[in-house]
Amino acid sequence: MAVLQYVFAIAFATTSSARAAEPPMKAIVIHEYGGPEVLKYEDVPRPDPKDDQILVRVIAAGVNPVDGMIRSGMFAKYEKAVFPMIPGADIAGVVEKVGSKVTKFKPGDPVFAYVTLKNSGGYAEYALMTEHEAAPKPNSLTYVEAAAVPVVALTAWQALIDTAKLSHGQTVLIHGGSGGVGTFAIQIAKARGAKVIATASTANQDLLKGLGADVVIDYTKQKFEDVAKDVDVVLDSVGKDTLARSYGVVRKGGFIVTLVARIDQAELNKHGIHGASLSVEPNSDELAEIGKLIDEKKIKVVVSQTFPLAEAKRAQEQVATGHTRGKIVLKISDEPK
Ligand SMILES: NC(=O)c1ccc[n+]([C@@H]2O[C@H](COP(=O)([O-])OP(=O)(O)OC[C@H]3O[C@@H](n4cnc5c(N)ncnc54)[C@H](OP(=O)(O)O)[C@@H]3O)[C@@H](O)[C@H]2O)c1
Repeated sequence: MAVLQYVFAIAFATTSSARAAEPPMKAIVIHEYGGPEVLKYEDVPRPDPKDDQILVRVIAAGVNPVDGMIRSGMFAKYEKAVFPMIPGADIAGVVEKVGSKVTKFKPGDPVFAYVTLKNSGGYAEYALMTEHEAAPKPNSLTYVEAAAVPVVALTAWQALIDTAKLSHGQTVLIHGGSGGVGTFAIQIAKARGAKVIATASTANQDLLKGLGADVVIDYTKQKFEDVAKDVDVVLDSVGKDTLARSYGVVRKGGFIVTLVARIDQAELNKHGIHGASLSVEPNSDELAEIGKLIDEKKIKVVVSQTFPLAEAKRAQEQVATGHTRGKIVLKISDEPK
């Protein structure tokens, strides 16, 4: 299942390549599957980059729903994680050291990245990544804002642009428009020249409008299918009943992409539409393109709350509510001047 690639890429972040000779760093470490209480704030050896890797001093790390799913062992039946593990896929920071084969970055460069964590995760003072995972940090963003971008913005981009091929003048229905993925999806779709219908709860209706949604739906008060009809594309980040009811609002030949479930081929056939489940992948070129749209003020970043690294447990508890507005970010050190 495609979604699992995304999970496994993150799940095998381990501290195993860290060299004991390196000075210690603070990190959140998981030694066993469990609830948020298994997130331990510890001293661990700082990792050292291999030839094709970049070591980044992490200023801020984004928190994603999948971080808590992996921690809980939700995916252990498919493949077991290797402990100890440092969670976290989103970082913004400053390049500290590069391997001998790295050509795109040098020490001192400000970067943001979706790290697939074969070696070390983002909830730490230092993290490893490859050139393919990192891009120059947008100048107009703080590091906290930049850490809120990679996974969710790449997900929205790969869902709408790469997978559904959303084009100018088309109409897209975006479920969960106020969340991490949704806030970027609305703005990426608008930048493409699409008409956007977005859903969220009552408290987030103004946020949807502020991000540029043309039509907003309060899913607590109104059925989205009473408003959205014959749309070209649906982006589903909610699943279950929301996904089941979404097949019927897509025009014949249109596209539905879900981030949280297997697409139902029988439903696609029944409605004469296309569809896919998406698993986000790192892509430095796309991340750089998203960064440009941010610096051109076509996309803004919504961070609703920050927590210190030591309080990663509280941050994951908030994300697990499924009702986060924009993003939650761990602030690991002060913003460099
Ligand atoms: N497959 C992949 O590659 C991939 C990549 C990224 C994310 N994901 C998954 O996609 C999901 C969303 O991720 P995220 O980072 O955007 O999560 P998030 O930041 O927690 O956002 C969730 C949003 O969903 C909204 N929501 C909750 N119930 C809803 C409903 N019934 N109808 C419409 N909106 C509803 C909430 O808005 P209100 O507070 O207003 O209810 C909230 O803003 C997660 O399950 C995540 O794991 C998958």
